[in-house]
Amino acid sequence: MIEVENLSKSYGPRQAIKNICFQVNKGEVVGFLGPNGAGKTTTMNILCCLIPASQGTARICGHDIFERSLQIRKIIGFLPETPPLYAEMTVAGFLAFAARIRLVPANKTAAAVDRVLEKCRIQDVRHRIIGRLSKGYQQRVGLAQAMIHDPQILILDEPTTGLDPIQIIEIRKLIKDLASSHTIILSSHILPEVTQICQRVIIINEGEIAAMDSLDGLTSAMRKSERLHLKTRNAPPGAAERLRQLRRVISVRPEDRGQFLIECELDSGLQDEVARLALEDRWGIVELKPVALTLEDIFLKLTTEEGGPHHETIPDHR
Ligand SMILES: Nc1ncnc2c1ncn2[C@@H]1O[C@H](COP(=O)(O)OP(=O)(O)O)[C@@H](O)[C@H]1O
Ligand SMILES: [Mg+2]
Repeated sequence: MIEVENLSKSYGPRQAIKNICFQVNKGEVVGFLGPNGAGKTTTMNILCCLIPASQGTARICGHDIFERSLQIRKIIGFLPETPPLYAEMTVAGFLAFAARIRLVPANKTAAAVDRVLEKCRIQDVRHRIIGRLSKGYQQRVGLAQAMIHDPQILILDEPTTGLDPIQIIEIRKLIKDLASSHTIILSSHILPEVTQICQRVIIINEGEIAAMDSLDGLTSAMRKSERLHLKTRNAPPGAAERLRQLRRVISVRPEDRGQFLIECELDSGLQDEVARLALEDRWGIVELKPVALTLEDIFLKLTTEEGGPHHETIPDHR
């Protein structure tokens, strides 16, 4: 449905994205994850035909973004990072206006407004002035305007930034509901967001794709070792050293009193040996459990460690 080929964009001397390639299939919900400045907004703006790419291209439902930009605008609904709202208008008035600029036929406008009011659950505030609504509600109005022309694809740039925790949960739920009938790309610099909403993640860092996989795929591909957490009542000072001497242990990190994080080779069955050692030496085991590698660990590995994507220093001209 969306095919991106070798997309690059430079703003003057600054290269914001480099050779980005990915595809999104119909019905998928894909998360675009990366730290601030990674190039998420740039990529989304290009896909929505708001800015041109410097190199490469993309096709949306088979239409080239350069040649068929009007066509593409009809298939895509876009929610920019700051929702494009007129604070002094009423919700329904604004949505009717959005319908007009989106070329919804006049005799279908009322139905289109009702449809998005319902989808975004803002029927109750339809007569309220947008500027007086909470940020969470304003964000829903932003989503509603993005959907007014009934697009198949939704592109949402950081849809939950600036919202409070309850609003975040509500917007996430709304996006999940929309996922059943739309293809969605959403960007975020927050991990839990992506893990909760998306089926697939594209991790972007310094303008390049650092990884792209399903959540499970990412976790297992990055897993080269496993970790155990050991908590004891009274491990003696030499305990960490004793643990390090066990076969197949890679590292031992003492944590708070009597606690250790043990990294060991995959499938080493080390749990038994650690338990035996702790029992024999009477360390008083309180807890011994495997620690899963979280997406957060992977994200940090990919975006901060060497062995991640190739780092190029780009002078900061701003
Ligand atoms: N209009 C612009 N002019 C110059 N540099 C820009 C412009 N927009 C973005 N950039 C730069 O491009 C890089 C990517 O930005 P952006 O796509 O906004 O990242 P993200 O959305 O992931 O935070 C950043 O280094 C940013 O400073
Ligand atoms: Mg951005």
